[in-house]
Amino acid sequence: MKDARVAFGGVRALDGVSLTVQDGQLLGLIGPNGSGKSTLLAAISRMIDLSSGTLTMEGRDYTNAPAHLANALGIARTFQTVRLLRTMSVLENVMLGAQAEWVRRGPLATWLWLSRARREEKRARRAAQQALERVGLKDLGRRHPQELPYGPARKVEIARALACEPKLLLLDEPTAGMSQAEREEVGILLSELSKDGLAQVLVEHDLAMIQRVCNRVVALNFGQVIAEGLPAQVAADELVREAYLGHRDAGMEASAPMMEIGRQ
Ligand SMILES: Nc1ncnc2c1ncn2[C@@H]1O[C@H](COP(=O)(O)OP(=O)(O)OP(=O)(O)O)[C@@H](O)[C@H]1O
Ligand SMILES: [Mg+2]
Repeated sequence: MKDARVAFGGVRALDGVSLTVQDGQLLGLIGPNGSGKSTLLAAISRMIDLSSGTLTMEGRDYTNAPAHLANALGIARTFQTVRLLRTMSVLENVMLGAQAEWVRRGPLATWLWLSRARREEKRARRAAQQALERVGLKDLGRRHPQELPYGPARKVEIARALACEPKLLLLDEPTAGMSQAEREEVGILLSELSKDGLAQVLVEHDLAMIQRVCNRVVALNFGQVIAEGLPAQVAADELVREAYLGHRDAGMEASAPMMEIGRQ
């Protein structure tokens, strides 16, 4: 992403952001509420248009590509709030992420391509099952999302994003609302994915988690990058501390074991 700008009416949600994520890098993205973190993920995954700037994936410009092409290039994301389809099983929800052609083509084309569609469906089912195993939910595929507690439901979303075997995974506060034990599990999962070479951007308000799992951190404020570097450096940065203080009454202690900033 180079010099990206996004405006909503008069609000400059992204104001000249440049960012690169390497293979295997787990990049933490922090910043106070409304600083542009979710907008950044939406821009990278082509869910919203840039007003200027460019997007490239492995050297290929996809600034104006449709969202499904960004996905085909290997970019997957999770959302800040749970978005699972209640009428489908957990496994089927995850299969939706597997980029199955039989889902994209629709029923008529699927009928015309029946044998191929069957193969595709099998492949998607296998990928979805593997993704569920990866997040530690292999026995929950037949259940429905509304039967799951909140923490596992959020993990299903991570599985759905993993099911297309992405090269870049964008996570918008994946552990918000989870128990401490669940947060730690997700932290370990993200570290393992990073060791396997997956590039990740993690939006997270829990600075302790950021310091534990991320190898680089970018801090945003008012749509601009205000600090960038190693987690401890960024947490100690004067501008970052001021940005958070401007949004909170209380002070900020980067070293606090379970620091929650902003959204609860
Ligand atoms: N669809 C939209 N229409 C209008 N304004 C929007 C829209 N989405 C975001 N904004 C505005 O853009 C700015 C950045 O919002 P964004 O959601 O990216 O922040 P954020 O850093 O993810 O915040 P949070 O920590 O609360 O999730 C905010 O001022 C927000 O009000
Ligand atoms: Mg957000």
